[in-house]
Amino acid sequence: MRVEKHPILEFPMKAEIPFYYNGELIKGFEGDTIASALHALGIKVLSKSIHHKRARGFYCAIGNCGSCNMTVNHVPNVRTCMTKLEPGMIVESQEGLGILK
Ligand code: FES
Repeated sequence: MRVEKHPILEFPMKAEIPFYYNGELIKGFEGDTIASALHALGIKVLSKSIHHKRARGFYCAIGNCGSCNMTVNHVPNVRTCMTKLEPGMIVESQEGLGILK
């Protein structure tokens, strides 16, 4: 969900940024982090925990918890709340520690 209208503030149009999420081409917007783009699209489970495979998602949003770790451009354990979205990025959900591909 994104705030598109506001009674006082104006939101300038931002450029769309296409990227791949688990093999599907989707779009975020200029200025998004990977996690914020996914969250705005309703994708809230970003990874699964190491031991019990519990769902993990956007939590601290300041790079402290590691709950948003995903595999980005084949590199595991990228903190997606701190990584700016770039066109053509390949973003994949991660289960456990992740695998360097
Ligand atoms: S949400 Fe906590 S490190 Fe990204």
